[in-house]
Amino acid sequence: MRIAVAGATGNIGKLTVAALERDGHDVVRVSRSLGVDLMTGEGLDKALDGVEAVVDAISSTATDRDESVAYFGTTTGNLLAAEERAGVRHHVLLSIIGIHRVEGNAHYAGKREQERLVSAGSVPWTIVPVAQFHDFAETVAGWTEQDGVATIAPLLIQPIAPADVADVLAEIATGEPQGRYTDVAGPEPQDLVDMARRTLAARGRTVKLVPTWSGLFGTAMAGDVLLPGEGARIAPTTFDEWLAAQR
Ligand SMILES: NC(=O)c1ccc[n+]([C@@H]2O[C@H](COP(=O)([O-])OP(=O)(O)OC[C@H]3O[C@@H](n4cnc5c(N)ncnc54)[C@H](OP(=O)(O)O)[C@@H]3O)[C@@H](O)[C@H]2O)c1
Repeated sequence: MRIAVAGATGNIGKLTVAALERDGHDVVRVSRSLGVDLMTGEGLDKALDGVEAVVDAISSTATDRDESVAYFGTTTGNLLAAEERAGVRHHVLLSIIGIHRVEGNAHYAGKREQERLVSAGSVPWTIVPVAQFHDFAETVAGWTEQDGVATIAPLLIQPIAPADVADVLAEIATGEPQGRYTDVAGPEPQDLVDMARRTLAARGRTVKLVPTWSGLFGTAMAGDVLLPGEGARIAPTTFDEWLAAQR
């Protein structure tokens, strides 16, 4: 099957490409560095020629709400329009658990816009709400790290291995559209500060972590809001197993 992966050079995108190719599929890689820009539409029609399914795993670096909504809105709109022209039969969106329960997070506002456009669009779809990835804590600490100190919110999450996310997306993309998919998470709940501390230690790095709800993640993200709902699909790889493989 011919499948396009948007965000093919990214964390999840490149693993999804690998999972699909491992299973014998013909994969079209889409990203700006590969000459296809979902923001402008450049190269998109050519890339989707003969494609049956598309996985959208692009991301945005916007920290402003309007910018994030505009970025995800424009890229999703351009991608869906090109899919219609190409006769694509299945659009798979990588989304995030809990985005409809949390106001005030710019990235989540953009992801809600993606979900809105996909579910209102005419290309049959599957939206896959996924938990934070095992490498998320290290990424978040990196956003504020300066002179050996980083701030980080003690989010309660049930993180998942990036390779497990890719396997789920590859499986879904090669099947029939399912509408809103069940939440997909890892096997155990974790605290983001503890995850960051252990990941940095595994990397041999000394960074002082300051827990706070006054940074990018406020108290709207506290409690159980980011945890998977009932009947979630639980992926196999624990945070400890993933961490051991990083050494
Ligand atoms: N981090 C988490 O814990 C988590 C959890 C659940 C869901 N998610 C979602 O997972 C998605 C993927 O995250 P990630 O960490 O894998 O992202 P990432 O590593 O930052 O990769 C983003 C990819 O998108 C491409 N891209 C960005 N803008 C583009 C554009 N205009 N046109 C074409 N390609 C574009 C980038 O390539 P170029 O720069 O070459 O264009 C890159 O390949 C995000 O939407 C995020 O919301 C994240």
